Amino acid sequence: MERRKFIKACCYTTIGLPLLGGVFQSCGAIYYASSTQEGDRLIVAKSEFWKIEDTKKINRPFVLIKREGIDFPICIYKIEEEKYIASLLKCTHRACELNVGGGIYSCPCHGSEFSITGKVLEGPADEDLKTFKIEIDNENLHLFLS
Ligand code: FES
Repeated sequence: MERRKFIKACCYTTIGLPLLGGVFQSCGAIYYASSTQEGDRLIVAKSEFWKIEDTKKINRPFVLIKREGIDFPICIYKIEEEKYIASLLKCTHRACELNVGGGIYSCPCHGSEFSITGKVLEGPADEDLKTFKIEIDNENLHLFLS
């Protein structure tokens, strides 16, 4: 079995099934972070990228944001200590909602795949995902929707 297919088989977590997140803990469970909106800016606390479990700090590699008025979730990956990337989980082929898992975004409709930076890895999609500018302060990420 190819490595990519094996990872998919092991780690796929669908956004529509957040209650199964705990089952996929080692792959980065689906977690919907809290956010506030000020104009075209979403504010997400950096503390959303970790949790305390049995006195241990557990890092979340990514969080999802769902907001009224935005048709698709936004996934924010923490790439490095102060570096984050946010992508709209809308497939650029025919607008299906993407799955997150195995370090890629994958489309359940026709199989397109995207890197966590939003770049097309595999078609039929031929356009990268919409990404968002992010500014960071001591406590929060500021994600600009426009
Ligand atoms: S809608 Fe995603 S590959 Fe077609």
